[in-house]
Amino acid sequence: MKRAVAGMGMLIGMLWLSVAYSVAATNPHSAHKTESDVPDVPKTSLTKRTALNLPPAAQDGLRLTMREHLEAIEAIVAALAREDFTRAATLANEELGFPKHHVAMQREQGATFPPAYHDLAMAHHQAAEALGAVLPTKDLQQILPQLEQTIHACVKCHQAFRLQD
Ligand code: HEC
Repeated sequence: MKRAVAGMGMLIGMLWLSVAYSVAATNPHSAHKTESDVPDVPKTSLTKRTALNLPPAAQDGLRLTMREHLEAIEAIVAALAREDFTRAATLANEELGFPKHHVAMQREQGATFPPAYHDLAMAHHQAAEALGAVLPTKDLQQILPQLEQTIHACVKCHQAFRLQD
């Protein structure tokens, strides 16, 4: 009997927690992580993004580079999970660092970009190379903030630019 009461108490406790959690999750003001915790820039949907309006071939080239960027981030996180810091550093430098800029430019076939886009692209390569530089330390307290900065550089550009009107 005692055990049944204790079990019931636990069940009620769990139910209460799950209700409290779902209320918190649907209420943006009490949710654990609110939009205001995200630094620097407003949400993409609230920002007016500038359209690049590139020629179709350059647009396809840009999209291909972008999908490779996402795959590179995935591969970096996977290498980190295996504690293969050497592989992660190679990926950060070669797939997201400045060498990738030359690949991207070839694919974009001389299309012109606004100066602000160029600056964001450079900042993104720089962040990736800074990640490449701290990876050999194997110190996650240095690596994770730099990984966040690398992803933040992707987010910042996506918040400012889109392909077409
Ligand atoms: C300098 C600007 C810039 C940077 C930096 C950037 N992107 Fe993009 N990305 C774009 C633009 C512009 C688009 C098109 C978005 C649109 O039209 O809505 C795009 C689209 C994408 C897409 C969709 C591709 C498709 O096939 O439609 C993915 C995935 C993506 N980016 C991943 C990334 C990742 C991951 C990073 C960072 C490692 C990154 N991007 C960095 C500008 C950038």
